[in-house]
Amino acid sequence: MRHLMSPLDLSRAELEQLMDLADDIKLHPDVYSEKCHGKKLATCFYEPSTRTRLSFEAAMLNLGGSVLGFSSADSSSAAKGESVSDTIRVISSYADICAMRHPKEGAPLVASQRSLIPVINAGDGGHQHPTQTLTDLFTIRSLRGEIKDLTIGLCGDLKFGRTVHSLINALVRYPGIKFVLISPEELRVPEYIREDVLDKNGFEYKEVDSLDNVMGELDILYMTRVQRERFFNEEDYIRLKDFFILTKEKMHLAKKDMMVLHPLPRVNEIAVDVDDDPRAMYFEQARNGVFIRMALILTLLELV
Ligand code: NCD
Repeated sequence: MRHLMSPLDLSRAELEQLMDLADDIKLHPDVYSEKCHGKKLATCFYEPSTRTRLSFEAAMLNLGGSVLGFSSADSSSAAKGESVSDTIRVISSYADICAMRHPKEGAPLVASQRSLIPVINAGDGGHQHPTQTLTDLFTIRSLRGEIKDLTIGLCGDLKFGRTVHSLINALVRYPGIKFVLISPEELRVPEYIREDVLDKNGFEYKEVDSLDNVMGELDILYMTRVQRERFFNEEDYIRLKDFFILTKEKMHLAKKDMMVLHPLPRVNEIAVDVDDDPRAMYFEQARNGVFIRMALILTLLELV
């Protein structure tokens, strides 16, 4: 039985297989509409979510399966003090696969160790978010044909943004990728990502605090929200929240085919008028999240 805690749980070849499957699902959804008949997905979300939870649920429903679950810690027995280990042990007898989001880093991993069904990490604190990374890789591959020779700007809250951590982890395995890490000093990527992932792999990257100065170099701009819920005090959040705002005017500085991605939700960091720019791909990215999650569910349930 396999779980998904980090994008590194999948080899490069497995990632390609998963994306090939997602491509096929996107083209021929009818072929897959009954593949999970009789199977159940449990969504155990101890933290707010719109896209991740609903795209998992849509994915399972599109496969002909059913879903059950909870969408906040308050509405589960966590409010009574139950551990994730006990919760998953019980849910193992109600469902066939589980997607879990938790504010504590490592909680889905702890759950997976007690689980009798595959567990997918749907975001654990400021740590990892592997299915967002699958969505991001799938979107890049769909738009560029392959993931290769790209300068990728990661902008915003690189300290607490788990989507950024997972994406860096995954992308260091692809050829010709360069990172431009764009953040205020206080929100730089954590040291463990710099040392254990980037430096250890001899990876090319630079850290800057101006978006305008690097805009013209980028093939992909991955914007992120300042992660308010992970700040220790509101003053710091207020000071940093509008540090970078991508506007229509700024888009003039970018390459004609630069792609703008964002895991969403957006707060202020992308002005709404950027949405009409054909380079704004974040809504397409969110749509892709359903196909890649369908491919993941089929793979972990060994139905392909
Ligand atoms: C992200 C997350 O939850 O980490 N959202 C998502 O799953 N698409 C990004 C965020 O909340 O900023």
